[in-house]
Amino acid sequence: MRTPFIAGNWKMNKTVSEAVALVDELKAALSGVSGVDIAVCPAYVALTSVKPGLAGSQIKLGAQNAYYEPKGAFTGEVAISMLTGIVDYIIIGHSERRQIFGETDALVNKKVLAVIAAGLQPIMCIGETLAENEAGQTEAVLERQTRDGLVNVSTADIAKVTVAYEPIWAIGTGRAATAEDAQNRCAFVRAQLRLKYGDLADQVRIQYGGSVTAANAQELLGKPDIDGALVGGASLKVGDFSAIVKAAAR
Ligand code: PGA
Repeated sequence: MRTPFIAGNWKMNKTVSEAVALVDELKAALSGVSGVDIAVCPAYVALTSVKPGLAGSQIKLGAQNAYYEPKGAFTGEVAISMLTGIVDYIIIGHSERRQIFGETDALVNKKVLAVIAAGLQPIMCIGETLAENEAGQTEAVLERQTRDGLVNVSTADIAKVTVAYEPIWAIGTGRAATAEDAQNRCAFVRAQLRLKYGDLADQVRIQYGGSVTAANAQELLGKPDIDGALVGGASLKVGDFSAIVKAAAR
């Protein structure tokens, strides 16, 4: 019912020429793969350089962030309107944006709404810290982030949103959530969506992210409420990322 969706978050890695080379290799490694949606999210400066190489491929482009205002005096920011026609997806509220750059649920919500209004698809990231996890607050955090991030997102638009559940303690640590825990958290998020959106919750893709590798992808992606993965470190390696994509293909 939901097409699996694997997105590679390259973070602040790869020069423009390295990004072009990686996309070329990925295209070759993934040609002929079907039954899965695929996106790569290089740094802004590489987006227009990698774009031509992706023509005719099933790999879509995403951005790692954007600002919600349409234009103006916001030094260093990139408007969603500037990304229109280049990317299909925009990652919003990644935990590194929240923790290092102070993004709040209210800001995340403004960005999600602006991405949808521009006709693009947000990947809204949520997830608890290690301290929150150990204090038994995970569900309260996920409930708050899901609710506050999706204020005023209508029933007509909710299926355009991908939610990425990324426990912060699992990101870049090599310590992924167990498939069972990840499934339970993703099912909890879907239950929150169901309270607000009814059966449309079944159309929303929920990714797991946090130390997804070629070795653990199969088990994670086999779970009923895990509809894909947001992949950081392993998305920078052709072999690993293509193995994860192939593990998701239905
Ligand atoms: P990781 O990052 O796969 O390197 O843990 C995931 C993410 O931050 O999206």
